[in-house]
Amino acid sequence: MLRHTLSEFLLLWSFGQAICGISVLYHNEKGQPWNRQNRYTAPLEMDMKLRRLDLSKSFIRQLHTLGLQHLQQLDLSYNQLDLIAEEAFKNLAQLEALNLSRNALYNNVARTSRALRSVGGLRRLDISLNNLNDEAVGLYLQNKFSLIHLDLTGNGITALTHNTFKECQGLKTIIATNNLIRDIEQGTFEPLKRLETLDLAQNNLAHICDFQLYQVNYLNLSQNSIEFFLTRQDEKLFRLEILDLSYNKLFYFPIVPKFIHLRYLYLQNNMIGALNSEATMIAEAKSVYKEIVIGKANTEYHEIFSNWRIMPLIYIDLSNNHFRFIPFETLSLLTSLETLNFSRNCLQNIELNITKPGQLGYNYQRLFPSLRHLDLQKNSLRYITPLFFKASPKLETLNLQANSVKPCPPGNGLGRNKSDQHALRRHNMSCVAFRHIKTLKHLNLEDNGIKVLYTNTFEKTSLDHLNLARNRHMVLEEGALQGVQGSLQSLSLSETNITSRDLSLPCMPALSQLNLSNNHLDTIPTSLSCSPLRVLDLSNNALVSLNRSLIRAMSSHLSAMYIRGNRFNCCNTSWLTILNESRVNVPDLSQAKCAAQGDSVFLADYFESPSGYCLFQTTVPVLTVGQRLIVFIFVMTIISMLFVFINMWCT
Ligand SMILES: *[C@@H]1O[C@H](CO)[C@@H](O)[C@H](O)[C@H]1NC(C)=O
Ligand SMILES: *[C@@H]1O[C@H](CO)[C@@H](O)[C@H](O)[C@H]1NC(C)=O
Ligand SMILES: *[C@@H]1O[C@H](CO)[C@@H](O)[C@H](O)[C@H]1NC(C)=O
Ligand SMILES: *[C@@H]1O[C@H](CO)[C@@H](O)[C@H](O)[C@H]1NC(C)=O
Ligand SMILES: *[C@@H]1O[C@H](CO)[C@@H](O)[C@H](O)[C@H]1NC(C)=O
Ligand SMILES: *[C@@H]1O[C@H](CO)[C@@H](O)[C@H](O)[C@H]1NC(C)=O
Ligand SMILES: *[C@@H]1O[C@H](CO)[C@@H](O)[C@H](O)[C@H]1NC(C)=O
Ligand SMILES: *[C@@H]1O[C@H](CO)[C@@H](O)[C@H](O)[C@H]1NC(C)=O
Ligand SMILES: *[C@@H]1O[C@H](CO)[C@@H](O)[C@H](O)[C@H]1NC(C)=O
Ligand SMILES: *[C@@H]1O[C@H](CO)[C@@H](O)[C@H](O)[C@H]1NC(C)=O
Ligand SMILES: *[C@@H]1O[C@H](CO)[C@@H](O)[C@H](O)[C@H]1NC(C)=O
Repeated sequence: MLRHTLSEFLLLWSFGQAICGISVLYHNEKGQPWNRQNRYTAPLEMDMKLRRLDLSKSFIRQLHTLGLQHLQQLDLSYNQLDLIAEEAFKNLAQLEALNLSRNALYNNVARTSRALRSVGGLRRLDISLNNLNDEAVGLYLQNKFSLIHLDLTGNGITALTHNTFKECQGLKTIIATNNLIRDIEQGTFEPLKRLETLDLAQNNLAHICDFQLYQVNYLNLSQNSIEFFLTRQDEKLFRLEILDLSYNKLFYFPIVPKFIHLRYLYLQNNMIGALNSEATMIAEAKSVYKEIVIGKANTEYHEIFSNWRIMPLIYIDLSNNHFRFIPFETLSLLTSLETLNFSRNCLQNIELNITKPGQLGYNYQRLFPSLRHLDLQKNSLRYITPLFFKASPKLETLNLQANSVKPCPPGNGLGRNKSDQHALRRHNMSCVAFRHIKTLKHLNLEDNGIKVLYTNTFEKTSLDHLNLARNRHMVLEEGALQGVQGSLQSLSLSETNITSRDLSLPCMPALSQLNLSNNHLDTIPTSLSCSPLRVLDLSNNALVSLNRSLIRAMSSHLSAMYIRGNRFNCCNTSWLTILNESRVNVPDLSQAKCAAQGDSVFLADYFESPSGYCLFQTTVPVLTVGQRLIVFIFVMTIISMLFVFINMWCT
């Protein structure tokens, strides 16, 4: 609703602009601008050989006959067209692409539609943002047998029927986002045998029952009010690869066709998982299926989700749903799954309850055979069973930002067999063991309230990116990075409230990015000379100066260094000269300050003319009161003598 009000507002606004009567320049094919006399209609005299004509963003209201026989592309978007004369396009036999976006074509529909009917060879048509209703759209789409690409975005369409696309069945792409579509009649899209891309995002669809678009490859139903999506389980093959059902009202997974090529499934921002357990979820889905599909079609149903086993899905986004559990039973069917986004749910523990042989838990080692990227940020996680990591033998990226995960101390959580597991659950489920996750490369533990990072926390992993930022009370035990110091390429310790005394970093020969910003450092660790650092963030610390020989050593590989928010001494900034001479970029130099004689000045200003600030301090010693008095008396004496001498000389 708001969107429509907004577009109406914009329309009014552009009418307002027209009244001001600003003159407009046009460009023809050769790029030569020419001025137009009448701003309110299209120009009449133009080069007859023109193939492309861009009349967009002008003040054209009405369009009369255009005599451009060779014209192939005509852009009339962003005008105030409310009438296209019947003969306007009758000479445009070659016209292939017509852009009428953002005009006022809800007016004079009968006459304009007759004009549009005459361009039968059109391949691309954009009539978005014209406030069109169902009837107008139907009329404008008559005689469009060659049309391939159609944009209907931002109109007022409420229903699509089998009549809507009757005369444009060659369509490959239909974009009808941001309308008011509530109903789609059975048989609307089915005759469109070449349809590949169907974008119905931002409409009012409430459910998709018995989806039968075998040919469609991309279907976007994001931002509707869809409560369920289900398909009869027949033997036909569907081409669908990308399905977007995000921002809807789904309570359970969509019931997709049995034979489907689905690779990307977007389910973020729904209500999936709000039901108590996975079993309830599946049972509910089955009963809806039974009621709606079978009731009508009288087909058998077996395991409606079992077809997921043969689906080549590699990506599923379940972020912003209501899960308190991971739906292992369903997700473990997805043997190709590489990326699982489970961020912003309500997980507290990830457990794998070992049950009877034959049941899910028994085969835990094959749960997520292809999973590489797992996003679990912004849950309330405290515990993840080691079995889960064992069940994901290819896990590379694990994002645990903004949870309550505490890495386990040595010896705890190491057990990866059954009896250990039970013991652990009995005794302590408050930590997560990262040791021995051999494939793990990227780990984000930002903002988890970690208090201690124990020795060997990441041993036997392959970590190259580690983010420990914003754990504000974290103590790094000696040897905390033991085992990954050779592989780490990127490390963040930003906002960990660390002081130089507490920070002892090992020699890290692969480290190229280090973030030490927002701490209390007054010196930088000398062990950095080990690392081929390219980016170093030292902003917001307590640094007064930087070790010259260290900076000189690092400047051979540094490409950027951040320094603002420190307490640098202006008169000890030879390190900055080294950086400048080595052409190291200091992106925040203009914000960095330094102190000279109690004043705080911008480092860059100081750097421009260093003598103005430090010369006095470094060359002339500060004088005592007595010394000043002697100097004063001396100067006065000289002046008096000079005065007397001049007086004598003049007389
Ligand atoms: C029509 O013009 C608008 C605005 O200039 C543009 O955003 C849109 O992509 C164009 N449509 C087509 C199909 O090229
Ligand atoms: C679906 O449409 C929405 C809204 O236009 C858009 O933000 C989203 O990126 C689209 N989804 C895909 C998978 O392209
Ligand atoms: C997961 O979803 C969140 C929010 O919905 C997004 O910020 C994040 O980038 C996504 N993660 C991945 C790996 O795509
Ligand atoms: C797993 O078992 C524990 C206790 O044995 C129970 O508290 C927990 O709810 C179970 N989790 C699931 C997902 O079934
Ligand atoms: C489990 O591991 C522990 C040591 O971590 C070992 O003592 C125990 O025998 C193992 N149990 C089984 C069933 O393998
Ligand atoms: C679990 O271990 C942590 C650290 O080892 C300890 O602080 C906590 O008290 C333990 N919790 C239980 C319930 O034993
Ligand atoms: C930061 O550390 C100091 C001691 O080093 C402590 O007094 C202070 O409370 C800490 N601040 C935070 C936000 O943890
Ligand atoms: C360092 O970390 C802070 C806060 O986590 C972030 O804002 C900043 O962009 C990071 N610096 C670099 C160079 O990425
Ligand atoms: C300049 O800074 C370095 C490193 O902090 C320090 O060793 C040196 O004494 C300082 N020199 C002066 C003249 O303050
Ligand atoms: C400066 O860094 C070098 C290594 O480049 C180190 O040997 C030296 O001790 C450091 N000086 C200070 C004052 O920390
Ligand atoms: C070095 O300093 C000069 C003079 O202030 C400046 O023009 C130049 O951009 C600086 N170079 C770098 C790499 O910052």
